[in-house]
Amino acid sequence: MAVKIGRNDPCWCGSGAKYKKCHEQFDRRYEELELSGAPMLDRKLIKTPSQVAAIKESCAVNMAVLDYVGEHIGPGISTQQIDDWVRDITARHGAVCAPLNYNGFPKHVCTSIDDVVCHGIPDSSRILKEGDIINVDVSTIYHVYFSDSSRMYCIGSVSPEKERLVRVTKECMEKGIEKVIPWTPIGNMGSAVNRHAVENGYSVVREIGGHGVGLEFHEDPWVSYTSEEGSGVIMVPGMMFTIEPMVNMGSHEIYTDESDGWTVHTRDGSPSAQWEVTVLVTETGCEVICW
Ligand code: MF3
Ligand code: CO
Repeated sequence: MAVKIGRNDPCWCGSGAKYKKCHEQFDRRYEELELSGAPMLDRKLIKTPSQVAAIKESCAVNMAVLDYVGEHIGPGISTQQIDDWVRDITARHGAVCAPLNYNGFPKHVCTSIDDVVCHGIPDSSRILKEGDIINVDVSTIYHVYFSDSSRMYCIGSVSPEKERLVRVTKECMEKGIEKVIPWTPIGNMGSAVNRHAVENGYSVVREIGGHGVGLEFHEDPWVSYTSEEGSGVIMVPGMMFTIEPMVNMGSHEIYTDESDGWTVHTRDGSPSAQWEVTVLVTETGCEVICW
């Protein structure tokens, strides 16, 4: 804090409450940890109540888009059709698709089927068929605020092996959510995700992780889902980030398709699944604000 706030002054967060009743304790704790050398997130990325409210509106659009996809997806649908839906439903809400032109990404959404780990590019010649598992990863900009979540869809009836992968990957994400506890290191979350995957005979992708989100598409911190307990930045109330582990049925190794520069595959060709939520760290745990 450059300017010292009086205890009876309005809090810096804009809540309207007096500083002593609002973020005074937070600031003390934050500064103590900082002085002790703990890795802390840049304070600019800690969301104020009004930012949280605005980001939640973006999340509402993102989730409405995924709901629409879930109601219409099925065998015979092309991934380009999904891209068209995402474009149209997002526009209908007065929002913008964050992926389009992001670092040159050519479409509105990522569609990742079977051995595609993430960043699959929608394509009119890729028609969904019975037995496919697909991740649809939607990211929205609404009134300059960003939201991000993704879901898996099983097309028709899928093999018990793939169904289990999809289920366990969701459980991994949930194990991570349980470990989002304020004033503890984010590595505890990633390590819980990884443990559950490994216990089930799977592996978690290492090179690609999650991220802070809200004011930008991808903010600090970079989030690992194979991290060590006790490592990484301290989670503090107001921090916002994604939990989006990519879980492979086989080895964790991946490669990026050189012909398009985007599509990430498992090296061994085994299927991969991913679920993504955005969480807001609260005083007592976290709130899942986008799923
Ligand atoms: N939505 C992805 C994420 O979860 C990012 C995709 S980048 C894109 O972070 F350019 F491929 F869209
Ligand atoms: Co993300």
